[in-house]
Amino acid sequence: MKGKLELLVDKNNLPAHIVIIMDGNGRWAKKKNLDRISGHREGMKSVRAVVKSAKDLGVKHITLYAFSAQNWKRPKVEVNALMELLKQYLLKEGNKLVENGISLNAIGRLWELPQDVYKVLEETIEKTKDCQELTLTLALSYGGREEIIDAIKKMISHGNIAPEDINQSNFSRFLYTSDLPEPDLLIRTSGEMRLSNFMLWQLAYTEIYVTKTLWPNFRKRHLIKAILNYQRRERRFGLTGDQVKKREVI
Ligand code: IPE
Ligand code: IPE
Ligand code: MG
Repeated sequence: MKGKLELLVDKNNLPAHIVIIMDGNGRWAKKKNLDRISGHREGMKSVRAVVKSAKDLGVKHITLYAFSAQNWKRPKVEVNALMELLKQYLLKEGNKLVENGISLNAIGRLWELPQDVYKVLEETIEKTKDCQELTLTLALSYGGREEIIDAIKKMISHGNIAPEDINQSNFSRFLYTSDLPEPDLLIRTSGEMRLSNFMLWQLAYTEIYVTKTLWPNFRKRHLIKAILNYQRRERRFGLTGDQVKKREVI
C-alpha cells in the first residue's frame, strides 16, 4: 500500500539517478553505546530498504557510496568488518536482486578489494546482468580524484585521442560511470556538508540534499522526502529562470 507521502511524488519528474553518501553509522552506534561495527550492520538494513524503495518508486539508477578510497585508513578491524558485511550482503542478496529486477554494478578501484569480496561481487554482477528495473551501483574503494586520474591514464594509454580533440563527452567515457546517467540528486545523511571525494566530476549540476538523519535510521519515507524536496527545485544549468520556464513550454 502506498503511504500518503508517496502519493505526493510526481512520477513524471523522478530523479533518474540518485546517489547517496551513506554516512553516520559510527555516530548512530555511539549514541546507543554500541561499537562502530554494530552501526555498519544496522546500516545494511537501510541499504536493503532504500534499494527496494527506489525500485518501487520507479527510480532507474541508484548509487551508494559504501567505501571510500580513504576509508582503507580506518582501523583494520573496522575495515575487515566492512568487507565482511559487504560480502554477506552480496551472498544473501544476490537472488533477491534478481527477483526484484535489480542489476548490480560497482565503481571504484575494485582491484583493491580482498579477493573473496571481489569474487562474489563479480558473481553477483554477472547473475544480475539482465535485470532491467533498477541499476544499483556500489562505490567501493572509490574516490572521485582517483577516478579522474584513472580516466586520464586510460585515455592516454588507449584512447587514441589528440589533446585538441578532448572534450567533456569523450573524457567522461573513461570514467567508471561511463554507462550511467549523470546524477540528478545527491543525498548525504548525518548532516555533513561535504562531498568527501565523491563523484567530483559527475556532481557538477546535481541537486544536493543533506539530512541530519543518520544512515541506520534512513528509510523509505526519508527517501521520499528527499525526492519531494528535489521536485520543488528549479534546475537552471547556468540559464536564467525565465529561459528555463520557456524551455518547459516549448
Ligand atoms: C558511513 O558511516 C559508513 C562508511 C563510511 C563506511 P561512518 O562509519 O562514516 O559513520 P560516522 O561518520 O563515523 O558516524
Ligand atoms: C564518506 O564518509 C564515505 C562513505 C560514506 C563511504 P566518511 O565518513 O568517510 O567521510 P568524512 O571522513 O566524514 O569526510
Ligand atoms: Mg562518516
